[in-house]
Amino acid sequence: MEAIRVVGGRPLAGTVKVEGAKNSALKLMAATLMAPGVSRLTNVPNISDVHVMGKVLKRLGATIDVEDEHTLVIDTAPVASWVTPYELVAQMRASTAVLGPLIARFGEARVAMPGGCNIGARKIDMHLAGLTALGVEFSVDHGDIKAHVPDRLRGTVVPLEFASVGATENLLMAAVLAEGDTTIENAAREPEICDLAEMLAEMGAEIEGAGSPTIVVHGVSELHPVEHEVVGDRIEAGTFLAAGALAGGPVTVEGFEPVHLEMVLRKYEAMGMGVERGERRVTIRRDGQIRSLDIQTLPFPGFPTDMQAQTMVLLSVAGGTCVVTENIFESRFMLAAELARMGADITIEGHHAIVHGVPALSGAPVTAPDLRGGAALVLAGLVADGYTTVSDIHHIERGYENFVPKLQSLGAEVSLLSA
Ligand code: UD1
Repeated sequence: MEAIRVVGGRPLAGTVKVEGAKNSALKLMAATLMAPGVSRLTNVPNISDVHVMGKVLKRLGATIDVEDEHTLVIDTAPVASWVTPYELVAQMRASTAVLGPLIARFGEARVAMPGGCNIGARKIDMHLAGLTALGVEFSVDHGDIKAHVPDRLRGTVVPLEFASVGATENLLMAAVLAEGDTTIENAAREPEICDLAEMLAEMGAEIEGAGSPTIVVHGVSELHPVEHEVVGDRIEAGTFLAAGALAGGPVTVEGFEPVHLEMVLRKYEAMGMGVERGERRVTIRRDGQIRSLDIQTLPFPGFPTDMQAQTMVLLSVAGGTCVVTENIFESRFMLAAELARMGADITIEGHHAIVHGVPALSGAPVTAPDLRGGAALVLAGLVADGYTTVSDIHHIERGYENFVPKLQSLGAEVSLLSA
């Protein structure tokens, strides 16, 4: 069991480069299933969620050659199975991203039904309703979702109840190989959706409107393998910017598009940070006390739920009281109880957190509740008095490559402890 130990109070400064986006890489890997042959993905982060998606693809019959740490060469020609078992889906919910591609390629899929997770029930009813509208028949059998296309996938209009990222992606992938046109209304607009649509277009798909609420897909009969570079990880970038904001800066984060993080940057400016936007880079510095302000998470281009925990740490040491409202996931405030162990003053009322800024945090042993919450606790340790030890860091390793060495390179006194 490993833990991360942080010694608080060291100022951070310097430059750090982010990897490709986890949430994009996972879907792009799934999308390679749709074009039998050898695809090459570059700028893939070397993180445990990517390893799990690799296992999923291999289980289906693909071969994966790790050309270098960040380049995967995936041959999906040998894929002859369409079964993704619970042992893999239980390790990572995003394994369900293979549903759309398998249906598109084979007209069949059997994917374990994901259970709940640390941040809520996270249903996939919208994925299933949308795919049903395209002509898929579903049944649930011994905990697996069985999908069967009796005829052909046929394009239609699919209005999403909520702009779900995963549902938009599964539908987009299935629609690309459907007969006729599909319109996804109230589609998610996250940059990772655009990255997926770009790769599908390079593969021969015809897609209009990705990045807007209405995506129109003109179905094609086949796709061909491609080479594609994963978009930079805006959330990893935001995490290091939050670290810079907490611990002084200037910290420069490069390797991502600042426009993908615009709402966060604006909020951080309003909190009193100096923010300088450059070409695929942002520099942040803290001038004086952090100003308290309300935030609410919303689908892109709103404030990302994946930056809520890191930002709550900033607000917990800000001057004043504010309300953080979580609109995307039902139980994403588990961080608050851990932060309270470090002296934070946070009250949870349903999907609102009332954060009263305190003058300082004090180091303590804490447990990572989930991926972003775990990273946020390490950030809290950077400004806490004394030692903070964050355990259960397998959550952090799901989404951050070399988190500890990158923080060290900025001057943090942080180390990996193995027990
Ligand atoms: C993706 C990201 C995650 C991010 C989230 C929102 C990946 C691997 N994960 O998750 O990091 O926090 O987008 O930006 O890309 N919902 C339903 N029924 C559905 C689908 C979703 O009720 O069929 C609900 C979910 O329970 C959740 C909300 O809708 O409360 C948003 O989910 P969604 O946008 O689908 O997030 P994910 O794709 O799971």
